[in-house]
Amino acid sequence: MDSNVRSDGWYFVFVMLIMVGLIGKSIHGQIDGAPMSKTEQEGLYYAIQGFVGKWWNGSDLYPDPCGWTPIQGVTCDVFDGFWYVTDLRIGQIHDNSLPCHPNLEFRPHLFQLKHLKSLSFFNCIISPSHGPVTIQSANWDALSSTIESVEFRANPGLTGQIPTSFGNLKRLQSLVLIENGFSGGLPGSIGDLTHLKRLVLSDNLLTGKIPDSYGYLSELLIMDLSRNSLSGTLPLTFGGLTSLLKFDLSRNQLEGEIPSEISYMKNLTLLDLSNNKISGELTFPIQEMGSLEELILSSNPISGDLMNLNWENLHGLMVLDLSNMRLTGGIPEVISSLENLRFLGLNDNNLTGNLSPKLAELADLNALYVNGNNLTGDLKFPREFYGKMGRRFGAWNNSNLCFSVATMPANIRPFGVKVCSEVPS
Ligand SMILES: *[C@@H]1O[C@H](CO)[C@@H](O)[C@H](O)[C@H]1NC(C)=O
Ligand SMILES: *[C@@H]1O[C@H](CO)[C@@H](O)[C@H](O)[C@H]1NC(C)=O
Ligand SMILES: *[C@@H]1O[C@H](CO)[C@@H](O)[C@H](O)[C@H]1NC(C)=O
Ligand SMILES: *[C@@H]1O[C@H](CO)[C@@H](O)[C@H](O)[C@H]1NC(C)=O
Ligand SMILES: *[C@@H]1O[C@H](CO)[C@@H](O)[C@H](O)[C@H]1NC(C)=O
Repeated sequence: MDSNVRSDGWYFVFVMLIMVGLIGKSIHGQIDGAPMSKTEQEGLYYAIQGFVGKWWNGSDLYPDPCGWTPIQGVTCDVFDGFWYVTDLRIGQIHDNSLPCHPNLEFRPHLFQLKHLKSLSFFNCIISPSHGPVTIQSANWDALSSTIESVEFRANPGLTGQIPTSFGNLKRLQSLVLIENGFSGGLPGSIGDLTHLKRLVLSDNLLTGKIPDSYGYLSELLIMDLSRNSLSGTLPLTFGGLTSLLKFDLSRNQLEGEIPSEISYMKNLTLLDLSNNKISGELTFPIQEMGSLEELILSSNPISGDLMNLNWENLHGLMVLDLSNMRLTGGIPEVISSLENLRFLGLNDNNLTGNLSPKLAELADLNALYVNGNNLTGDLKFPREFYGKMGRRFGAWNNSNLCFSVATMPANIRPFGVKVCSEVPS
């Protein structure tokens, strides 16, 4: 009994000692026992100061930027007993994030951070009030053995070319440059980034051809070059992108035919080539791409007859948008067996024949557009179908199409379609 009390007492003293130790340590900002080297710490302060402005001096506000007084947007890790910055996020990610300075600069200190893995700028370089900001190509090589992710998103004031030196960041897995002001050609050197999984360059002002070298990115899962002004044909090397899941080149000026090598992308779920000048016939081996969920080729001068494709193989399709092309022939009834289909856009083509009422059996279908064709005959969908779809059933501008009025309440009649009795038969 007595000895138990005594040992409890010792235990209490022991716990107190630990707590005092912890508080003491926290005052010195070294709870984890990891200090930060002077060069790394100053490098961080000076790099951030370059982005947010000279008024900012982190050394007072954040004496221990990786420990007890972390800087918003800075993530650290311990290497050999010292703190290092691994992840730096600049820009207005949170309400209380530091806003970027209009005259921001990429100081050399940024490139001295020894273990930087991920760097991102969001909504940061907005209006170039003192002239546009460009990224110098030099310096980046210093990050080549550590950096895995580079992201610039929503920085319209960021202009000039994509630095070719990004091609030397050989550990890069993700390069995301969305909604910036980058112009000029795509650097071929990006094709050297053999570990790249994600390449997203959408919504810039990029021009010229897509380099053949991009077809060598054999680990790539996502390629999105949409919303630029890229021209020329699709490289034949793209058959090498065998891992690809999402492939989006929409809203460019691309031309020529879709190379048959595209069918080597066996795992592809999204193919979006819409709003280009791609031509040729819709007879390429798309039907072998059984993993496709979204096939979007709209607004291209591609011709072809839907009847000639083997739709059964594309049983995973959820979105099929072939609108505003040069399709002719009928709409195959077998499309109504694609049971995951949610969106079917065949409008503004030159399709003929009848529209099968079996399409109404697609339980998930919530948009069906066949307007602007040359369909004929009587629409025979059940009235619940018109009720469910409303304006998301588009059949107008088919001058020889009609519907029977007998059982149809006025409020669910298909928009822009004549009553059959008005058509002389
Ligand atoms: C912050 O202020 C200290 C002391 O005035 C100075 O030594 C340091 O260089 C400054 N750091 C930056 C990033 O300006
Ligand atoms: C395609 O996906 C399957 C299943 O996820 C995977 O095992 C296979 O490695 C992938 N193929 C390629 C070429 O990446
Ligand atoms: C549609 O096809 C018909 C018959 O082949 C043809 O006469 C017509 O010019 C085509 N219309 C358009 C808009 O391509
Ligand atoms: C619609 O098809 C008919 C023949 O079935 C053809 O005479 C007519 O030119 C076509 N109309 C359009 C607008 O393509
Ligand atoms: C049908 O097409 C014409 C010309 O192409 C267009 O002006 C008209 O608005 C269209 N009708 C409907 C109901 O969309």
